Amino acid sequence: MLSITNISKSFINRGLVLDNLSLNVTEGDSVAIMGPSGSGKTTLMNIAGLLEKPDSGTITFRGSSITDYNDNDSAAYRNRNTGFVFQDHLLLIHLTVRENILLPLLAADYSKDEMTTKVKRAAELMKKTGIADLADKYPSRISGGEAQRVALVRALVNSPSLLLADEPTGSLDGRNADILGELLLEMNREYGISLVVATHSEALAKKMSRILYLKDGKLIL
Ligand SMILES: Nc1ncnc2c1ncn2[C@@H]1O[C@H](COP(=O)(O)OP(=O)(O)OP(=O)(O)O)[C@@H](O)[C@H]1O
Ligand SMILES: [Mg+2]
Repeated sequence: MLSITNISKSFINRGLVLDNLSLNVTEGDSVAIMGPSGSGKTTLMNIAGLLEKPDSGTITFRGSSITDYNDNDSAAYRNRNTGFVFQDHLLLIHLTVRENILLPLLAADYSKDEMTTKVKRAAELMKKTGIADLADKYPSRISGGEAQRVALVRALVNSPSLLLADEPTGSLDGRNADILGELLLEMNREYGISLVVATHSEALAKKMSRILYLKDGKLIL
């Protein structure tokens, strides 16, 4: 599905972060990326989501090269194919839970029928993740665990085939981390969404079908 091949990336003052690294994510895959702080997990996730460009190497998605996409192409690709969940939920505080969740739909160019389907799906996902009752609340009035589930639903409203999650449970307590981890798995199993999850949590990593470690710029088993 997503093939990242021989990617290198360095930063001034830091040097080489990713060193000729390759990662192949298949349809329905679930992959955990582990590794110490500063090893390059976020850098790799950003490159996988076309939020950042590698210095060299290629990226293909379902057989097409997306390596040289410009900003517009990259944004369209992200909208259509990928969802992101970050450590901090990044919800907009002046919008309700429902508005936050529906916001990504406005960035895509849907017909009226498609929009109806997506809004229905959003409602279904809100039920499934246990946040349906929070729809009219503002982010400051919900818990961190709930906010992270809102962020998950928001990442899924455009029906992405690939979900990229960077430390999705990093700011959650054990119980909420477990709930979110189980929800991620459910999305993978029920909807076939491929998962790439960067995490420091062994418990979360173990839920994925494979774990890779980022060390010295390379991914190892
Ligand atoms: N935009 C940037 N400019 C300069 N250096 C950067 C930039 N982004 C990341 N780095 C450096 O690259 C290295 C890898 O950072 P990255 O955020 O990918 O690590 P990480 O594995 O996600 O760490 P953590 O577990 O703490 O989230 C770090 O040394 C970081 O300081
Ligand atoms: Mg990081």
